[in-house]
Amino acid sequence: MLRVSNLSLTSNGNKILDHVNCSFKPGEITALLGPSGSGKTSLMRCIARLEPSDPGSITLNGQSIQSLKPADIGMVFQQFHLFPHLTVIENLCYSPEKLEVMTELTCTPKAMEMLRQFGLEDKATMKPSLLSGGQKQRIAIARALMMEPKILLFDEPTSALDPEMVEDVARLIADLRAPDRILIMATHELKICRMSADHVLFLEHGKVLEERSKDEFFSAPQSERAKSFIQRMPS
Ligand SMILES: Nc1ncnc2c1ncn2[C@@H]1O[C@H](COP(=O)(O)OP(=O)(O)OP(=O)(O)O)[C@@H](O)[C@H]1O
Ligand SMILES: [Mg+2]
Repeated sequence: MLRVSNLSLTSNGNKILDHVNCSFKPGEITALLGPSGSGKTSLMRCIARLEPSDPGSITLNGQSIQSLKPADIGMVFQQFHLFPHLTVIENLCYSPEKLEVMTELTCTPKAMEMLRQFGLEDKATMKPSLLSGGQKQRIAIARALMMEPKILLFDEPTSALDPEMVEDVARLIADLRAPDRILIMATHELKICRMSADHVLFLEHGKVLEERSKDEFFSAPQSERAKSFIQRMPS
């Protein structure tokens, strides 16, 4: 279980996260919902250790996430952040080799197998600029999976994609569910949320307003704020 306890984040005098308490179960996909600026990306950045936080405020199975290995937490960014000067296979192998999790000898076959699973083996030697948005997104996800992270975070995985790609990415993310993997995604899209999430965390002004199963959240939101938010979510 990944547990966030009393987590606050302030930047330039602004309260970005305000005493956040929530938890994330392995085997489940949690969607972070909430208006723009509510703190979804910031919460994920704290979990990914990209923001300073009190060492005891985020724990995995009782241990501070500060004690996890870099390979244990992966994040897929909204704009993919692939290395433009590297080929697809080099993008997949960069971190595992740099962090010495794998050698070139073991990494290349694993990366090729990963590309095969994602139907992208023919793109292995291409530079990212030659790929479509959907292909870049799948490469970014494949790259994050290379080190078999225990926690995988997605920041608006479909926002940079053609609307027709949304279902494909939702299905792909749903297929990543594994008993010992914690999956968290921030999204504005009702469709991906309905198709792949199990659990919903609704944020506003850096606070958690609701934390419930997806079905409960959508069928009977507790707060007026969540009700009006759901009504205005694009379908
Ligand atoms: N590095 C930073 N320095 C100062 N303020 C920041 C920084 N990053 C984010 N913020 C502020 O923190 C608040 C939360 O931002 P965040 O990006 O987490 O929201 P979000 O819910 O992901 O929004 P969106 O749906 O638009 O992506 C916003 O008010 C934002 O302006
Ligand atoms: Mg965001």
